[in-house]
Amino acid sequence: MRLTKWLGCAAVGASLLFASASAFAVTIGFSQVGDEGDWRPAFSRDMQEEAKKEGIDLKFADAQGKEEEQLKAVRSFIAQKVDAIIIAPVVVTGWTQVLQEAKKAGIPVFLADRDVDADKSLFVTRISADFNLEGKLAGAWLAQASKGNCNIAELQGTVGSAPAIERKKGFEAVISLFPDMKIIKTQSGDFTTEGGKKVMEAFIKSTDNLKGICGVFAHNDNMQLGAIQAMKEAGLKPGRDFLMVSVDYVPAMKEALAAGDANASVELKSAIGKYIYPVVTEYLKAKQDLPKWVKIPSDLHTAAMPAN
Ligand code: AHR
Repeated sequence: MRLTKWLGCAAVGASLLFASASAFAVTIGFSQVGDEGDWRPAFSRDMQEEAKKEGIDLKFADAQGKEEEQLKAVRSFIAQKVDAIIIAPVVVTGWTQVLQEAKKAGIPVFLADRDVDADKSLFVTRISADFNLEGKLAGAWLAQASKGNCNIAELQGTVGSAPAIERKKGFEAVISLFPDMKIIKTQSGDFTTEGGKKVMEAFIKSTDNLKGICGVFAHNDNMQLGAIQAMKEAGLKPGRDFLMVSVDYVPAMKEALAAGDANASVELKSAIGKYIYPVVTEYLKAKQDLPKWVKIPSDLHTAAMPAN
């Protein structure tokens, strides 16, 4: 069931989001995080397919989760004199120098999906969903489902990444309104199924089979799917005896929701090339200043709650 729908596009952003990238010969370098989970490869595929459709010459570089690889890729794009660079940064820190190099070379940089903590004058804009709102939506769902009374186990995403930082902040902002909601276990599972499974196995051990825990908030679906496996292997019933909420709404999570193993997932759209490329190509044509964040909308999806 779809509970909440939000649109967060500023007027300028909205017109750009729905423009077509059009037949405009450009070469774009795209430095992607890696291929963790199910969401990221879907996003990579979409960027490649959408580029083909729009006649964009896309130079795609997969950093395999390593920031050093991303820095190398960006420097190679600069050396190749691409028209624009798109970066989905692994973590928020460490970007100032390479962004300055791109600026010096006169190559505009756009952030897609994740954020950086560098000065905003060093990139044109960021095109992405609102991770903080995703955390808030997850927190609000859990508050409602638990009637504001829940000890929570949290599976964090990659340490230092924008979605891990912002989803945590948004989630905590909501649960802090409820005196009986607390995160009592938290650890990073690095946005992977294996990571989520390992962390949940450790939680199960250290809490005598999750005694006292009522809900699990995972920063992405893949970690939640790993946690579900670990819980089932321990004879526990996720989705029935534990409230399970996460982010992404990937196909495997839709199945888990339908099977009653999970209860809610905040959608992070992966087909976002159609939002990103028009912003880049319009900028290359008009060179007009843009707002520093062009937001992509998200939805919260839940499965029917099991009757008590
Ligand atoms: O940056 C977005 C996050 O990165 C997705 O939620 C997660 O699945 C991916 O690894």
